[in-house]
Amino acid sequence: MQAVILVGGQGTRLRPLTLTVPKPMLPLMNRPFLEFQIELCRRHGITDIVLSTAYKPEVFAAYFGDGSRLGVRLTCVTEDEPLDTCGAVKNVERYIDDTFLVFNGDVLSDLDLTSLIDFHRAKGGKATLYLTRVEDPTAYGLVPLDRTGRITEFLEKPSWDQVVTDLINAGTYVMEPELLERVPEGECFSFERQLFPGMLEDGIAMYGFPSDAYWMDIGTPAKYLQAHYDILARIMPFSFSGEMIRPSVWAEEGAEISTEAAIFGPTVIAEGCHIAPHATVSSNCVLGPGCEVDEGAHLEGAVTHAGCRVGAESVLRRCVLAAGVKIGERVHVSDQAVLGGGVVVEDENDLRCGIKVWPGASIPPSTLRF
Ligand code: GDD
Ligand code: MG
Repeated sequence: MQAVILVGGQGTRLRPLTLTVPKPMLPLMNRPFLEFQIELCRRHGITDIVLSTAYKPEVFAAYFGDGSRLGVRLTCVTEDEPLDTCGAVKNVERYIDDTFLVFNGDVLSDLDLTSLIDFHRAKGGKATLYLTRVEDPTAYGLVPLDRTGRITEFLEKPSWDQVVTDLINAGTYVMEPELLERVPEGECFSFERQLFPGMLEDGIAMYGFPSDAYWMDIGTPAKYLQAHYDILARIMPFSFSGEMIRPSVWAEEGAEISTEAAIFGPTVIAEGCHIAPHATVSSNCVLGPGCEVDEGAHLEGAVTHAGCRVGAESVLRRCVLAAGVKIGERVHVSDQAVLGGGVVVEDENDLRCGIKVWPGASIPPSTLRF
């Protein structure tokens, strides 16, 4: 069975991280997010994967090549213009010869794909959608079912007065290839706003497969951080690399951690990191390769990509630093602040409340004292 993974979105809600790295390639636990989906496919015997790219396509090809390193056969196809979710699949129709899978490329899940496929075959519909339950369905595709599990409606980004269920489209579909005959070639076309509602209107059978497997769309800073915390809390299965040097503290080879630093789990410290004396790396931190944490700095719930530096006595709380961010001394970064690649924050600044700093920006020393 073939799988198409949609990775062409611009990831606007995750800017500034996605200005330099496409969303599916953002590190999650220090590995490109997309590896999680590819590994899920491989675990269920799906090794023929088409990546449908549009935004920064070269990044995918450069990292994955033909997929052999991950034990799959990967084909990257790039749209001339983004064709939206369903148009993107139409664009790779020539690679599809039988029942196939489609994945949104920003969903972290440990769904049992084999059960999903078995369910699709047993029900005999033309499409089966993996569904999950959320408290606020208004940011997703709402999918009410009848008593037999057949989908009765598909409402993308519903308003609250349309919310009749907490079941939403989890962004993984099993489909029959003949459905692509309903899709115009070379035009923008959406699964959520066109194909699915159109199929329902024409009485074509679509089924929902509700599952309570772990599920998270990593598309906003809050959710991107939460996906890390959930993996660290072992809510989403993950095989940690490196050595557990203290309870739930994993350090990779070449990480230098002062014996006078305070480190509390769950936390991951990648290869080549330096943690100075009297620094504190507290729970829910994931430090990328080659990060430096200076004396007296305090980190909690921080995700830092490769090559960041945190100056003396600075504090990071629930924030994301893209690769190569340099933080001066006595700086506070908190409350889902997101700093883009290579940002420099000089001494004594206070960045919080979801502030976003664009890649390469430089923030001069603050005159405010705290
Ligand atoms: N190739 C290609 N071309 N891919 C695209 C394009 C395009 O033009 N537009 C979007 N994508 C990819 C994105 O990269 C992402 O992986 C996926 O399609 C879905 O796009 P998002 O922008 O993340 O959509 P969403 O999160 O608002 O909503 C979708 O996902 C929800 C679950 O997370 C919908 O499918 C909802 O119905 C669903 O509930
Ligand atoms: Mg999304």
